[in-house]
This record gives sequence, structure tokens and C-alpha cells, in this order.
Amino acid sequence: MHEPHEAMLYDQVLLKVEHLKRYFNTPKGTVKAVDDVSFNVIKGETLALVGESGSGKTTTANVILGRYTATDGSVFYKDVEIGSMPLTKRPLWLRREIQVVFQDPATSLNPKKTVKDIIETAIRIHYPKLNKYERMERLLELLDYIGLTEDHLFKLPRELGGGEKQLVALARALATNPTHLILDEPTSSLDVSAQSRILSTLLKIQKDRGLTYILITHDLAVVKNISHRINVMYLGKIVETAPVDDIFGEPLHPYTQMLLSSIPTISEEESKMLPKGVESRGEIPSAIDPPSGCRFRTRCPFVMDVCSKEEPPLKEVVTRHFVACHLHNKNV
Ligand SMILES: Nc1ncnc2c1ncn2[C@@H]1O[C@H](COP(=O)(O)OP(=O)(O)OP(=O)(O)O)[C@@H](O)[C@H]1O
Ligand SMILES: [Mg+2]
Repeated sequence: MHEPHEAMLYDQVLLKVEHLKRYFNTPKGTVKAVDDVSFNVIKGETLALVGESGSGKTTTANVILGRYTATDGSVFYKDVEIGSMPLTKRPLWLRREIQVVFQDPATSLNPKKTVKDIIETAIRIHYPKLNKYERMERLLELLDYIGLTEDHLFKLPRELGGGEKQLVALARALATNPTHLILDEPTSSLDVSAQSRILSTLLKIQKDRGLTYILITHDLAVVKNISHRINVMYLGKIVETAPVDDIFGEPLHPYTQMLLSSIPTISEEESKMLPKGVESRGEIPSAIDPPSGCRFRTRCPFVMDVCSKEEPPLKEVVTRHFVACHLHNKNV
């Protein structure tokens, strides 16, 4: 596991998500993209949100970022309720502190702007008092820090490789000197060597600056070396939460077991430890009309009568290891 570092204090909660719901009304009905999700993010940690497509990872991030407001529930950042605060109403300090890096730098970077313009704009908006020399100094420092050079300054995004583009997106996010970075599939569009370059840069930044990350991915293999804790999401719910070693060492939810058994890069030794017989099967049901009770029951090899009747609560079954599954619900 990625070792806890000095800046990480277990009792210091930076972000608190409480009973968050975000629904979307569509012509086909109401999509329950995020449906009563609660979790904390501890200062200095990397919390991974994993789950298949449509599980509500990006929607959760978008509420934290103010791109959507919550349908219900709250999000507290440093005790300020931000779940009901759209981006346009957020004070500058808040926008400075929570930054984001998206999956595809080809679309998140303006194709007509040079690297210099892209990063300088972020510096100018958030630090309006700096003069152009000070801005340039900051920009060059930042480029050097993330491993790009002055040669990149006047290049357009299309003149850069995928990994370099993502480093520019990262530099833009760092330009505001943030506390909290949301990384939504930051390496999914990259080849393996660019992926590892981004991941090692993210680790370095966290070590140096004590940044807090939410790392969103559908790929459990990516989170293994960079996360401290994992939230596993399925159809708008969190089904399991635990420190990364516990998720890989003793996954409790059949859905987590299914995700793990589909990792191609897992070592032979690790795959021997996985519970047998949980293979990926079935289609993901619609988030408009999710199954009653446990939402995973239609795909679960261990389904019982109770699963369609009662929704399993997220319960702490081992210290810091929570699971929402009737197999582990002692009251049943
Ligand atoms: N603006 C929107 N309008 C309608 N439905 C939406 C909207 N945004 C998301 N959804 C729906 O909400 C659900 C969750 O989507 P979300 O993008 O949060 O999933 P995700 O876990 O990030 O998936 P992926 O791994 O594909 O990025 C999906 O069913 C999606 O179609
Ligand atoms: Mg997404």
C-alpha cells in the first residue's frame, strides 16, 4: 500500500459527504445517479472511488466541484456546506482549494491556447496581485516541478504527447495552490508509460505538499499503489469502504470480489487469495429503476431471499472496513 505520510492525520476530516443524493430527470424517468452516499475524506489521504461505468463516481465529484448541486444531503468542506453551492456562487478561496484533473486532457485543455497561456490564466485568476514577472516566475517553477521544461511553454496541446498534456492539466490545477485535488480517471486515456509518469508525479506532489486526493477510476489495478482507502460504488451506492490493503486482501462484498477477479494485471499470488466463483456476469441494471433491496442482487452469485426485500446497511464489520451486504449483516 501507499504508505501514510506525515501530513496525514486520521482525525482530521477535510471533506464530509452526508446522505448525498443527486437525481437527474430525463424523458425516460428519474436517474438516481447518486443515491444516499456518505463518506469522509481525511486530510492528506488518497481516497479512491471505484466501480463500473454509471456507478455515480463522476456525479459525486461534480457535486463536490459545484458543477451540480445536491438533490438532497450535504457536502461539508472544512465545515462549510458546499453541496448546495453552485460553482458560480463559490468564493474564490474555495475554488482555489478544490481543483480537478479530468480523464481526457485533449478535451479539457483549450486547443488554441499555448501551455503558457493555459497555466498563466489560472495563476492570473487566482492571484490577481502578481505582476507578469512574478507570474512567469511561478509558471516556470511549476513547469519544472512537474517535469516539463521551457521548451513546452509555447506549444499547443496538440503538439504534446498524452502524458505531457495531462501534466499541463495537472500544472494548471496546481497553479492555484490547492488543498484538495479530484482526479477523474486521470490515466485512463494514456499509454502505460505515460500512466506511470502521471502516477509517480501525483505521488511526489502528495508527499511534498500533503495534498488530499479523490481518485476516480473503474480500474482497481491503478488504485493499488497510490490510494490509502477505497470506496467501491455500485449503481449510486457505496457497497464497501476499507483501507486499500483490506480491499485487496479480504474483499467482502461480492461486487468487490467480482471487480478484483477481473483485474488482468493482478499477480498470481494475489489471485490465489481471491474468493473463488465470483465472475463478472449479468448486465448493470438501469439507474432509473434499480432492483429493490440490494441493488447488486440481480448479478450476485450468493443472492438470498432477504436481498430483494431489504436494503443492506453499510456496516463496519472489521475496524475501518465497512460493507453493505446481507452475507455480513449479523442481524439477519
Ligand atoms: N447530466 C446527466 N443527465 C442525466 N443522467 C446523467 C447525467 N450525468 C450522469 N447521469 C447518469 O447518472 C449515472 C451515473 O453517471 P456517472 O457519470 O456519475 O457514472 P461514473 O461512475 O462516473 O461512470 P463512468 O465510469 O462511465 O465515468 C449514469 O446512469 C449516467 O447516465
Ligand atoms: Mg465517470
